[in-house]
Amino acid sequence: MDKNEEIIQTAHRRYATKKFDANKQISEKDWDTILEVGRLSPSAFGFSPWRFLDIQSDDLKKEIYDYAWGGQNSLNGASHFMIILAKKGITATHPYIQHITEDVAGHEYAPDSAFSKKFTDFQENDFKLTDDRSRFDWACKQTYIALANMMTAAAELDIDSCAVEGFNREKIEAILSEKGILDTKEWGVSVMAGFGYRDQDITPKRRQPMEEVYRVIK
Ligand SMILES: Cc1cc2nc3c(=O)[nH]c(=O)nc-3n(C[C@H](O)[C@H](O)[C@H](O)COP(=O)(O)O)c2cc1C
Repeated sequence: MDKNEEIIQTAHRRYATKKFDANKQISEKDWDTILEVGRLSPSAFGFSPWRFLDIQSDDLKKEIYDYAWGGQNSLNGASHFMIILAKKGITATHPYIQHITEDVAGHEYAPDSAFSKKFTDFQENDFKLTDDRSRFDWACKQTYIALANMMTAAAELDIDSCAVEGFNREKIEAILSEKGILDTKEWGVSVMAGFGYRDQDITPKRRQPMEEVYRVIK
């Protein structure tokens, strides 16, 4: 099989797993690889506005169970259950941006730098990210890139996964906040995912044909 066939095979291999085998655990090596792919994922301006929470506490899993209705299959048997947080309130002058600029990117930071001005212009004029909700949603979008990369990496390692958007954000955030896991002023719950080993057959893909989704503009 050539590389191209392998890539397509992985795309078919990854599917939304509805039944996990609770007796099978992902090895530390594989889990580290999945996480590293998440950490290395691209994000707008390189801000990586995410945190990956690996929920290992059975008590916490029980507490969120009723409010994470789309994640119950994962909570029931997935080796790892991840809650992905997205950064709130990103603007050019947020301390988080100063941190990323100085400590991660290794550039000088100034609230009135050309970069800060460009970013503010992007937020306010190009994308109209002018309120807390739209800024949070923009950060959430970035987390989905990390999520997709992690699910693909998992599939490459023959590990199953299921993305989970089926949850009540307010309730989950209240639970995490009450436990001191989440500072809701700074972070919000973006999306969740289960990773583990299936206890069912892989479901075949049902997708729109290429002619419907792909258009060449000349
Ligand atoms: C962002 C996102 C959220 C999803 N949320 C859920 C969910 O809460 N529960 C669930 O069982 N599946 C969930 N899914 C799985 C989708 O229903 C599934 O990916 C889609 O139907 C395509 O099927 P496939 O992944 O098996 O190819 C989600 C998928 C994505 C990408």
